[in-house]
Amino acid sequence: MSGKLRLGVNIDHVATVRNARGSAYPDPIRAAKIAEDAGADGITAHLREDRRHISDADIEGLMAVLTKPLNFEMAATDEMQKIALRHRPHAVCIVPEKREERTTEGGLEVAREENRLAHFIAPLREAGCRVSIFIAADARQIEAAHRIGAQVIELHTGAYCDFHADGHFAQRDAELERLREMAAYGHSLGLEVHAGHGLTYETVQPVAAFPEVMELNIGHFIIGEAIFRGLDPAIREMRRLMDEARG
Ligand code: PXP
Repeated sequence: MSGKLRLGVNIDHVATVRNARGSAYPDPIRAAKIAEDAGADGITAHLREDRRHISDADIEGLMAVLTKPLNFEMAATDEMQKIALRHRPHAVCIVPEKREERTTEGGLEVAREENRLAHFIAPLREAGCRVSIFIAADARQIEAAHRIGAQVIELHTGAYCDFHADGHFAQRDAELERLREMAAYGHSLGLEVHAGHGLTYETVQPVAAFPEVMELNIGHFIIGEAIFRGLDPAIREMRRLMDEARG
């Protein structure tokens, strides 16, 4: 195992800046094209129920112009399922969504909603989408994701990154260990393992080094860093750190 680690660049926050002014710029599709050229292996975009960043037109535009796979993040709602079935993106990542949250705060409670989610993802799989479930590093959730027929789990790295940022290094290391064990566990069940949320230049390498992790999805930090060094160099540096960690 331990092939090349894929980088999915999440462009949501280009749209956040655009929407802050209700203008037409900066254009997330232009950002996605730059990301493709800078070494992204895919583009990730989250169409939220409240459309606070990515819009329906953005998804349409991305599907029309991308040469790399689109990872379409969405909540498990009928509206989003219809949109996904219309576009048939390469990948669909099911995430929990609350209107009042600033970002996707926790993983999906798959174990509690197993039946509903199994029925929800079946047509997406039949349409040819690779279905991923965004979950905490928790054996119960991983087993439930496996039972409902997901091909991929994406492990939520937000807590690990927050502990690092707050200087709680013992808790950070404990969370990293949990992520390591659960990445191995998910892989042992036959699931493809991805990870993401909150990753930065400082936190990416320990996660990138897990041999079972095949893809990282990273957005907010890269888009922020692009203000200072430009989008292309910001992505290339993330790519370099990932490759270095993979060794
Ligand atoms: N993976 C998933 C499933 C997400 O929901 C997000 C945020 O939209 C990310 C990765 C990227 O997180 P960040 O923007 O913090 O890098």
